[in-house]
Amino acid sequence: MMTSPSSPRGGSASLKSSQRTRNSDKMLLILPLLVMCAPLGGDASPISCYNDQGSEGWSEGKVTVNDTMGALGRTVGQLYSQEKNSEVAFILYNDQKPAEEFGGRRAESSGNRGGHTKGVVLLDKNQGFWLVHSTPHFPPERQEGQFYYPSSGVNNGQNFICVTYPLELFQTIGEQLQINQPNVYDCDVPESLASLVPALAAVCNKKLLSSQIFPHVNTVSNRSVTLTSMGGTDFISFAKGAKFDDDLYHSWVAPALKSDLLVQFWIRSTGILPSNCSLGWKVLDIELINPGDTFTFKASQDHSKWAVSPKPARGGSQGRGGGWVCVGDINRNEAEERRGGGTVCLQDPVVWKAYRTAALQCEACGGGTVEC
Ligand SMILES: *[C@@H]1O[C@H](CO)[C@@H](O)[C@H](O)[C@H]1NC(C)=O
Ligand SMILES: *[C@@H]1O[C@H](CO)[C@@H](O)[C@H](O)[C@H]1NC(C)=O
Ligand SMILES: *[C@@H]1O[C@H](CO)[C@@H](O)[C@H](O)[C@H]1NC(C)=O
Repeated sequence: MMTSPSSPRGGSASLKSSQRTRNSDKMLLILPLLVMCAPLGGDASPISCYNDQGSEGWSEGKVTVNDTMGALGRTVGQLYSQEKNSEVAFILYNDQKPAEEFGGRRAESSGNRGGHTKGVVLLDKNQGFWLVHSTPHFPPERQEGQFYYPSSGVNNGQNFICVTYPLELFQTIGEQLQINQPNVYDCDVPESLASLVPALAAVCNKKLLSSQIFPHVNTVSNRSVTLTSMGGTDFISFAKGAKFDDDLYHSWVAPALKSDLLVQFWIRSTGILPSNCSLGWKVLDIELINPGDTFTFKASQDHSKWAVSPKPARGGSQGRGGGWVCVGDINRNEAEERRGGGTVCLQDPVVWKAYRTAALQCEACGGGTVEC
């Protein structure tokens, strides 16, 4: 278990899973990674990201990703455990919404319309979390009544980044979602909260915000904002919409962070973009990974979407340049240049090391395989 000190009631969690078959043994690998969680302060149980034990700091996961007592279950499970009349707002969005369990034919995706973006927002009048992830058909609608992890998330690696934020930031998060153009399949923003977070209410109502009141929302194709967690950690949210029409990582994130990037994404999609070093920053596609020092597998078995700086942050400065980890929901391929989506980045030495050591082999610019 890796743990790092965290300040009161803050937090984020990021974890990965992958399941592989080896010598006919089925192994569920839970990728350890990183849960930095929120201690409970004041209120009985604030809406927050939680880790496997409810302990603080970034720590390795203890249980499998589908365990209801794991980080994901404890965190997303809060959606189903709320009292009926409680004043909570939530948004579930996924370009591949949950399959209709008894509907016969599997209701596949919302197709190629809207953002290639997946996440969960849950908050009350004090605080809440924003979870960005890569898992198809997840999570279940609230009316399902309880948390479960779908079989669609078992075979390949997936990623989750959860950060706990104060209420005030959910308006900004709603604006980022407006840019992302998510496929919302379940949501509720009660009136008591709608006036505090109108952008989230608009996302839920699938309405575009009035460009007079929110001029930046409709006119921009992309926006990055710094979001400070309840625990005082800065995260940078990069959000792009269809109009952006370019690769997120090479054209924007690398130059913005002033960092080369090693990028893990679903390379079994069509039209994938090769490694590209043409804008001054090397953005390399990861080919072989070994997360959590467990076993090594090809990026083709990993559906997660993340990027890591090849070098650590320089001289302990909080300056840009290295030590970044970004976890998000968009791939490097031609079609997704024209889809909404984004990534959430932080600079934390423990998190950076965990991701950096996971990247073994990369595609060189111009082709060929190199050590990352
Ligand atoms: C998690 O998934 C594994 C592999 O599919 C399965 O064996 C196990 O029973 C599941 N655990 C829970 C708690 O659902
Ligand atoms: C949008 O992305 C471009 C890079 O393509 C970047 O230069 C610009 O600052 C971004 N805009 C915002 C508002 O973040
Ligand atoms: C690399 O990126 C540049 C700038 O976006 C683009 O014009 C070029 O086609 C890309 N190269 C490859 C090999 O994809």
